[in-house]
Amino acid sequence: MKLLAIESSCDETAAAVVEDGRAILSSVVASQVKEHIRFGGVVPEIASRMHAEAITGVTRRALEEAGVLLRELDGIAVTYAPGLIGALLVGVNFAKGLSLSSGLPLVPVHHLRAHIAANYLTHPELHPPFLCLIVSGGHSHLVEVLDYTRFAVVGRTRDDAAGEALDKAARAMGLPYPGGLNLDRAARGGDAHAYHFPHPRVEGSPFDFSFSGLKTAAVNLLHNASQKGEELPVRDLGASFLSAVVDCLCDRTEKAAIARGYQTVVLAGGVSANSVLRERMQAICKRHGWGLLMPEITLCGDNAAMVGAQGYYELKAGNVGKMDLNACATMPIEA
Ligand code: KG4
Ligand code: ZN
Repeated sequence: MKLLAIESSCDETAAAVVEDGRAILSSVVASQVKEHIRFGGVVPEIASRMHAEAITGVTRRALEEAGVLLRELDGIAVTYAPGLIGALLVGVNFAKGLSLSSGLPLVPVHHLRAHIAANYLTHPELHPPFLCLIVSGGHSHLVEVLDYTRFAVVGRTRDDAAGEALDKAARAMGLPYPGGLNLDRAARGGDAHAYHFPHPRVEGSPFDFSFSGLKTAAVNLLHNASQKGEELPVRDLGASFLSAVVDCLCDRTEKAAIARGYQTVVLAGGVSANSVLRERMQAICKRHGWGLLMPEITLCGDNAAMVGAQGYYELKAGNVGKMDLNACATMPIEA
């Protein structure tokens, strides 16, 4: 079964053709990073306009590179939630138009479910159930993946997402957008013990995260130093901050895997490309004898191949959208 997939939830316009949820026949990603870099973050209005400009060309290229015609496909998968509403609407409306004109079923895909599915593309042997840590710019979730379309949230952030905290701290350190990625690079070889950061816990919720206090601690440290005319070494500060964020992520994941009896841990989302997170989680899983699966680096960030992978399982489960399908800025993963 071949699906065309479309992704436009944030700042990447992407299209892909995926076979049986596991094989990428093509994957085209047009990043808007260069456009947003001068603003230090994603400007939603610019993102929507750029998606509208790029989506036809990106989709045409994905079909050409896969060597398939629209009529040879079995469905059109599209990210419909969660994300920037104006950005999502571009993809949803485009997919609806294609579905209406071709008669192919429209398959709505939840963005976080798609991030998890990036692992099905990287690891053909992976099947639910497993425990997944989803860490992106907008979300930090610990999720039991009970089946391809059945999920139970075990823990979540109470405030900032991990990626959001990394992006904001990186920005305060003078690093360009996207902060998480640049912090990962700038902190390599730094002393992770040079600065002490809090490791916040959520009282009574052992699997939940809280990153806003950590982020504020980094920002305050930088402000205090600049008031004294001092400049802090970004390599050591970045390494210490990153280490604290990763400690929190690893601690909750380890506890949840033990509590729920999982021996397979999976990472997903943009932050799962982080070198410190990948290394530290690997060490924990090795110690317990658990399996650790992570998407290949190119599939960690937003792309449409992962939407095509999840779309296959949604279509098999009968989750087909109608022409009144709407985009939603927020939507629980279980819905
Ligand atoms: O999943 P994603 O591409 O978009 C959302 O769905 O939000 O995640 C983007 C987030 C950003 O916060 C970005 O800074 C972060 O992923 N990120 C990283 C790395 N690469 C991207 N954070 C830490 N280390 C990285 N190597
Ligand atoms: Zn994403």
